[in-house]
Amino acid sequence: MRLPANRNELRVVLAVISAGALILVRVSLPLPNDIDVVRLIFWTGVTLGAASLSVRLPAGLVASITTAPILAAVFDPLLANPFAACWIGLLGTIEIRDIRREIPWYGSLYNKFANVISAFAASLALLATRPAFAQDDPLGTTTVILIVGLAFITTNVFLAVMVVSARTAAPITRIWAMAIRDALFGATAQVFIGWLMAQVGLRVGLWATLLFMVPLLLARYSFMKYAETRALFFGTVSALSQAIDAKDGFTRGHADRVSRIAGAIARAMDLSEKQIEQIELAGMLHDIGKIGVEDQILMKPSRLDPHEQELMRRHPIYGASILEPSESLRPLVSLVLHHHENYDGSGYPEGRKGEDIPLGSRIIIVADAYEAMTSDRIYRKAIGHDRAMEQLNRYKGIQFDPKVVRALATLIENRGAQAFEVSALPPINYETLAELRKRLAREPLARDAHAG
Ligand SMILES: [Fe+2]
Repeated sequence: MRLPANRNELRVVLAVISAGALILVRVSLPLPNDIDVVRLIFWTGVTLGAASLSVRLPAGLVASITTAPILAAVFDPLLANPFAACWIGLLGTIEIRDIRREIPWYGSLYNKFANVISAFAASLALLATRPAFAQDDPLGTTTVILIVGLAFITTNVFLAVMVVSARTAAPITRIWAMAIRDALFGATAQVFIGWLMAQVGLRVGLWATLLFMVPLLLARYSFMKYAETRALFFGTVSALSQAIDAKDGFTRGHADRVSRIAGAIARAMDLSEKQIEQIELAGMLHDIGKIGVEDQILMKPSRLDPHEQELMRRHPIYGASILEPSESLRPLVSLVLHHHENYDGSGYPEGRKGEDIPLGSRIIIVADAYEAMTSDRIYRKAIGHDRAMEQLNRYKGIQFDPKVVRALATLIENRGAQAFEVSALPPINYETLAELRKRLAREPLARDAHAG
């Protein structure tokens, strides 16, 4: 039986599973005698239906619409709560990917027991707050709904954040800030839908609660559109960056790796998620302007003469002009424009100095240099991690921002020099149609997976 490789993750997983199991035993013993089996099965079924509709978002996140039916069960006064809510949290959230074992067994159990704990927290919140307000007090009822919803969401997000933090060793507060921002909007709407479902189930009939699947499906549709749009955007940016790799004879995937290294440095420097994303995108597109440089200069095997150098040095400006017309790429313009500015002001195109150079550009120039030194090129072998770091250290304060070099050094100290090791993608060859067909049949999803 496979266990988490990481000791901290194992501890968190075991703690949550045991706490969830204890709560289940506690609410089930002695068995409540007012269990309405039909209602229990109904809410479990609705939750199962909602769970089957979860949407995978980028970065391994999953958006689900199970919060509404679980909270409907919490709010339903005819259910023996918290017994019912806990069991619905456990059984109602089983998904196809759990059955197909697409996630390890302990991950499935963790998610289910996290739902048990969250449903229990929501039930407790309801028990504690409901007596304080009159039934027909609109403000009081709204307050109760919000407190119950918050108890569910914060517990759920907190447990998800704990395990990610244990796995990645990233500070809990940072992941928490990111996760809660993303979760809060979608989930708060589901809190109110959950309460309405319980009311309609009570006053009109259980069948009528199924009508709420319409707004839930709409929410799911917007999650899906969001995921698709992002995948399309990143896929297009990645394809563009590969185009420039193909043209200047760099090893395939250079821009992609620069983007990953730059993103990791930005994360290590505690920048905001939005900044990190922009730096990653700019890392992918930093040399896009080389499309505007003549081929005989771009691919010249010997040293460039001063005139050719002058033409080559225009590529950041061309890059900025290429990106500027697109509204979604415009935030990257200054990062791309200044990715050859040196820290001491000796770079181009503007000769900016120190902090006047955008931080993203200072990060990309380090990532670019490190990547170029540590991966093989057609015309020279890689010099290896140690010598690359030596070079970066030698030119810090001159070409590179010392803070950025330090961040990269710490990052590699923590993760090992293999952190950005290159999977040896073959250089791009222009294939014949038959070769292309053959390759695509062999690796149909390679590009899609890459884009995600
Ligand atoms: Fe460049």
